[in-house]
Amino acid sequence: MRKVEALIDRDFAVGETDRRLFGAFVEHLGRCVYGGIYEPTHPTADAHGFRGDVLALVRELKPSIMRYPGGNFVSGYNWEDGVGPREGRPRRLDLAWLSTETNEFGTNEFVDWCRAADIEPMLAVNLGTRGSDAARNLLEYCNHPGGTAWSDLRRQHGWEKPHGIKFWCLGNEMDGLWQMERKTAEEYGRIAVETAKMMKWVDPTIELAACGSTSRTMPTYGAWENTVLEHSFDFIDFISLHTYLNNYAGDTAAFLASPDLMDAFIEEVVAMADAVAARRRSRKRLMLTFDEWNVWYRTRRRGKDRVKPGWPVAPHILEEVYTMVDALAFGGACISLLNHADRVKSACLAQLVNAIAPIMTQTGGSAWRQTIFYPFADMSNLGRGRVLQSRVDCPTYAATYYDPRGSEDLTFPIPAAPYLKLSVVHDTAGGHLTIFALNRHLTESMPLDLVARGFRELALDRATQLRHDELGATNTLERPDNVKPAPLGNVTVAGERIQMQFAPASWNVVRLQAR
Ligand code: AHR
Repeated sequence: MRKVEALIDRDFAVGETDRRLFGAFVEHLGRCVYGGIYEPTHPTADAHGFRGDVLALVRELKPSIMRYPGGNFVSGYNWEDGVGPREGRPRRLDLAWLSTETNEFGTNEFVDWCRAADIEPMLAVNLGTRGSDAARNLLEYCNHPGGTAWSDLRRQHGWEKPHGIKFWCLGNEMDGLWQMERKTAEEYGRIAVETAKMMKWVDPTIELAACGSTSRTMPTYGAWENTVLEHSFDFIDFISLHTYLNNYAGDTAAFLASPDLMDAFIEEVVAMADAVAARRRSRKRLMLTFDEWNVWYRTRRRGKDRVKPGWPVAPHILEEVYTMVDALAFGGACISLLNHADRVKSACLAQLVNAIAPIMTQTGGSAWRQTIFYPFADMSNLGRGRVLQSRVDCPTYAATYYDPRGSEDLTFPIPAAPYLKLSVVHDTAGGHLTIFALNRHLTESMPLDLVARGFRELALDRATQLRHDELGATNTLERPDNVKPAPLGNVTVAGERIQMQFAPASWNVVRLQAR
């Protein structure tokens, strides 16, 4: 490929990354909780039953905030089932994943796990089968210091101090037919605003996210946001977005271009939120929470293991085994999030362990990193700071991305995807400049010449690449380190100019010391 040129300037920033941009998600789904983060009989389990090997990998991955307890699960969840003495907790049918929920693990255990992992908890309330009353009671149970029935119940359960949970989601994917008690935009807008109002009366320090469309492909996309925000704008802080990238079509080039549709999605939702603000002559700017994003398709709608018969406890479902190429598309999604750091102030990789997850475990056995673990860990560990605007001069390619909706086959043209997808982050506190670069060309290596205007004394700190001769390569129990980063050679730094060479189909991270 001809030389690719990029330019950044120390003074021109997109915005500062929020620490919540690097979040993930724990749902009562398959083996995410049971056999994932929680397995009391596991040899590495602590006194709480938290798996120590999983905690160690979570600390490496470094998610900043964790969404819980769902997802689809939350729309049928009675939070009261999951608190109090374990022996009294009911077993229930979970209609989201057609399994049996034992309720052995609930809100207090989740908060303890977050504290052990040094992660901020994010809770979703059930606006499906429940509503504002259950939501305000849960908030009172969690955050009120004491002297009321719900807060004293928490203290009686052993948690004397309030949990102080700041970030709350008002339901989940309420526009979706698969959701328990799906709502129209009008119905959801009403319940969201009434719940928001009551929750903020209980604790005015909380921040609230309303459900946007489940995806950009929903038939009600746009109209949903408009109606929901007309109702709730004054009482909420965030609007949510969800995206699962797929390669159903087996078109690798289109799959790698698909994160560019996340860019469009983000920019469209910003426009919708700002249009509602403009109609109110309001200077308030709603922020975006991309509270579900990942690659997911093998075990999705047409996958055989989406549900298992017989209402099992913690079944092996949605255990997507990620390939090298999945990690590349995933890296592209990381770059899309970073490059919108001005408005995307929270995001959650869905999910954390076993179910569509960067970490896999064997129940009773070992835990390992999937391919997608690495781009996330790179972004989370090295992507905090000021995201700089980048200008890229690079050849592009045209692709058509296939994203089915129900039985409909939807296609989305991507007329000009640059082979290089790039984000550059300046960590002013640590004095680093970090380049995240995805070479989407499947057969050609890419020489990149990047000028970092205003950075006069750059020095190479570290450079890694993630690639594999086989795009379908995976990490498994037998070969947990088959795909992993290796040092990237051929990086030269001279004054403000950095020259690099990226292998075909590779994810690259170059970190420089920047005084
Ligand atoms: O993350 C898996 C599921 O995907 C979530 O439960 C739901 O919100 C989405 O449809």
